Amino acid sequence: MNIIHRRGWDLRESAAAPEAVFLNRRAFVAGAASVGAAALSPDLAMAQRVTDLPDPTADLYPAKRNEKYALDRPITPAEVNAAYNNFYEFGSSKAIARAAQALKLRPWTVKLDGMVEQPREIGFDDLVRQMPLEERLYRLRCVEAWSMAVPWSGFPLARLVALAKPLSSAKYVRFETFLDSSVASGQRQTWYPWPYAEGVTIAEATNELAFVVTGAYGKPLPKQHGAPLRLALPWKYGFKSIKSIVRVNFTDQRPKSFWESLQPAEYGFWANVNPAVAHPRWSQATEEDIATKERRPTQLFNGYGEYVAHLYKGLEGERLYA
Ligand code: MTE
Repeated sequence: MNIIHRRGWDLRESAAAPEAVFLNRRAFVAGAASVGAAALSPDLAMAQRVTDLPDPTADLYPAKRNEKYALDRPITPAEVNAAYNNFYEFGSSKAIARAAQALKLRPWTVKLDGMVEQPREIGFDDLVRQMPLEERLYRLRCVEAWSMAVPWSGFPLARLVALAKPLSSAKYVRFETFLDSSVASGQRQTWYPWPYAEGVTIAEATNELAFVVTGAYGKPLPKQHGAPLRLALPWKYGFKSIKSIVRVNFTDQRPKSFWESLQPAEYGFWANVNPAVAHPRWSQATEEDIATKERRPTQLFNGYGEYVAHLYKGLEGERLYA
């Protein structure tokens, strides 16, 4: 593969540094050059101030936790999670948090269209206020073999599907991320098939686990996690959990996702987590916790088989796990 086309997840782990490590390195370099460590502070303080602008939906958080979705591991600390992200719109490293602060969240409109009774657009603030918000503790397993555990807030994707009123002929839901290269420098890299897109079947979208995320750690969703709304599909590899959604399209054609368009041999439509099915270039048997660095065995459907295994009965001939 051409080096220019390398993605973050092609990097060896040692080459992908979380932002905290990156900042420490910068501090070290600055110190070595006799520039005081204080030189970093204004930069960091500004990023912090931008992040802290009042959010008109802040009163909705923390949402009440739904205890049904329990974890088998500790929650990843918010600050670790907030500095280790995949959001290619803002760059291909994990340290995109600062660049992502350029994202403008208001106004934010979501288009519901395609095979629906009546196409419509809805403002994010209207949408979130008419949905039943709750908090769920979910695991996220990235296809790169790392994992985290997050208290997401949001509402069932089934509620968004119901709001859209799809026709019975619709078989799939396709999601699209914003497109604005003036704020997302990654979108100036024209070899990527922007905008980022993902898709699931209607049966997957209406499964109780499929979740529209609008908050994390008891607050509105940080930009680097895909504000103002993203998906959490915890039984699938993380790339299916599309961020910063602007369009939800109902169709009878199987959607082709961003990664599938780029590399169909490696990334398919279903992408369900399975430790027994290796990625063409690495094993999926284990995963590294991004906070503790502990390695643990990966579970089939990321441990959510009791909720979703039935969705794939009769589909054994398909490439369900890549
Ligand atoms: N959505 C968009 N629009 N752009 C992306 O680059 N990366 C995906 C997914 N959603 C991505 C995206 C991948 S590969 C992963 S693992 C998760 O977001 C990471 O979510 P996090 O940064 O909140 O941990």
